Amino acid sequence: MNYAILGATSGIGEALAKLLVREGHSVGITGRRTERLGSIKREIEEAPGEIYIQTMDITKPDDAWDAYLALETALGHIDICVLNAGVSNYQGSRAVDVEARVVQTNAVGFAAMFRRVYERFEQQGWGHLVGVSSVAGLIGYYDSAAYCASKAFVSNYMQGYRQLARRSHALIHVTDVRPGYIDTPMTEGKRNMFWVVSADEAAKHLFKAIRRKKARAYIPPRWMLAGWVLRHAPAWITDRI
Ligand SMILES: NC(=O)c1ccc[n+]([C@@H]2O[C@H](COP(=O)([O-])OP(=O)(O)OC[C@H]3O[C@@H](n4cnc5c(N)ncnc54)[C@H](OP(=O)(O)O)[C@@H]3O)[C@@H](O)[C@H]2O)c1
Repeated sequence: MNYAILGATSGIGEALAKLLVREGHSVGITGRRTERLGSIKREIEEAPGEIYIQTMDITKPDDAWDAYLALETALGHIDICVLNAGVSNYQGSRAVDVEARVVQTNAVGFAAMFRRVYERFEQQGWGHLVGVSSVAGLIGYYDSAAYCASKAFVSNYMQGYRQLARRSHALIHVTDVRPGYIDTPMTEGKRNMFWVVSADEAAKHLFKAIRRKKARAYIPPRWMLAGWVLRHAPAWITDRI
């Protein structure tokens, strides 16, 4: 299988890329940090699969799309695209520019890439889009309101496209991935986390969800129950979190 992972210079995306290349897949990875892409490529060059790199900033949709097409040319075609790129305001910043960056990356940038990849897969006749949302998308949180809202957008956006694929009988799968707390640079220094798993562990669960073409996957799976409770709890409880 040929994979593109958008946002694979650290954390979950990097761990997934390494796992896939070691499994013998061809993988194209992107991110804004060109040097980091180069060092990841060097680290796994000996693995059985192929790795290709492409600098990409998803907040610049036209350039990002050119980068995607360059990756597609290098790979020959892309079967599975993992939209993993994201930023947070976990440090609790409510500054206007920080919130705008979160929305611009996680919602606007995500949608711009998702829509174009979906159309590309329609032309191709098949494809699998995997979007990394979050358990945080199930509920607002005072410390990261913009982040939670952006992930709610991601999940609902993908649900709409999953319905579209079904209605139009397109051979396109859409997987909504909802991680809980994962130990990555994004959560560095964050306190009060629980059920934390490593990026490698998260990548294993993610790979399993992709292979099973799941519509929705909680990582680790135990978050599914917590997710159900969060979704159904009345406002008088959730407003006191
Ligand atoms: N860690 C958690 O607990 C957790 C929980 C739930 C969901 N998630 C989600 O999981 C995904 C991966 O996060 P992570 O924890 O692995 O964090 P991370 O290590 O900070 O990785 C984020 C990735 O996104 C890329 N990225 C950020 N902005 C980008 C942009 N404008 N254009 C292109 N790439 C961009 C980064 O690459 P560059 O910096 O090189 O651009 C990096 O590769 C995110 O969508 C995050 O919201 C994480």
